[in-house]
Amino acid sequence: MVPKTKKIWLDGKFVDWDAAQVHVLSHTLHYGVGAFEGIRCYRTEDGGSAIFRLKEHVDRLFASAHIVLLAIPYSHEEICQAIRKTLAVNGLTEGYVRPIVFIGDGEMGLFVKTNPIRVAVAAWAWGAYLGEEGIKKGIRAKVSSFNRHHVNAAMTKGKINGNYVNSVLAKWEVVKAGYDEAVMLDTEGYVAEGSGENIFIVRNGFLQTSPLTSILPGITRDSVLTIARKLDIPFKESRFTRDEMYIADEMFFTGTAAEITPVREVDDRRVGTGKPGPITKRIQEAFFDIVRGKDALFAHWLDVLK
Ligand SMILES: Cc1ncc(COP(=O)(O)O)c(C=O)c1O
Repeated sequence: MVPKTKKIWLDGKFVDWDAAQVHVLSHTLHYGVGAFEGIRCYRTEDGGSAIFRLKEHVDRLFASAHIVLLAIPYSHEEICQAIRKTLAVNGLTEGYVRPIVFIGDGEMGLFVKTNPIRVAVAAWAWGAYLGEEGIKKGIRAKVSSFNRHHVNAAMTKGKINGNYVNSVLAKWEVVKAGYDEAVMLDTEGYVAEGSGENIFIVRNGFLQTSPLTSILPGITRDSVLTIARKLDIPFKESRFTRDEMYIADEMFFTGTAAEITPVREVDDRRVGTGKPGPITKRIQEAFFDIVRGKDALFAHWLDVLK
């Protein structure tokens, strides 16, 4: 269960957690046209708190909404403020924030013109998505039989509600089979992303991640590439196959929820030594230092809560 907080920001006002209800004829509930974000706030070394890459998350929320023709009835800064206030009003110094843009009720059918575009922001305490143990020791992944979306079937650059049916099917399939997370291949058979994460492999000291073609442009993915540049770890964004995961020295997932989670096994093949490798560990350490405000070089990624 999501641990309840006091208030949810809904259409410009705070309402009690239990009162944040929508009508069953809300358009998005039926057709999936909506946009959302997942954002984390961390306690920082100096005793404060900061939202990680808030601007980029809100940029992506607007981009996702734009892709599915939703005009968010608030400015970028108003959404940023709603997110900051939702954390503050709930007394959260660390946690996960979920803004969502959706189409309310009114008309039905696919082409609607007058339904309200609604926005909510909820926040709650949420630990490691793939488990604390997973972050430390690595998880077991499996390639799902469900492909990632074709680029001209669903709009993969957006974090769009309906797109996640595909992710849910993949996640269920592999969890039911006893694994922790799904690897999804694109429609040409190359490794695309996880059900809610981007994917990196390391081979011979070289970091590699799938190009942006058919995947969500992850903000953690971008952070990792920036960290790699800083740490002088060579990298490339280019397609790779499932057997390149099998023979990788290291592999990890990145995502706001999953943070940086090493993969110790994929499709029952041990990855590298079966333990988080040295490059994964360096990147993980650098990432957690940054989110916790220990690296002044990346202070601009932190939206400090006042
Ligand atoms: C399908 C998918 N890929 C990748 C990611 C990682 O993106 P980010 O690092 O911005 O959270 C997510 C999570 O938002 C996702 O849902």
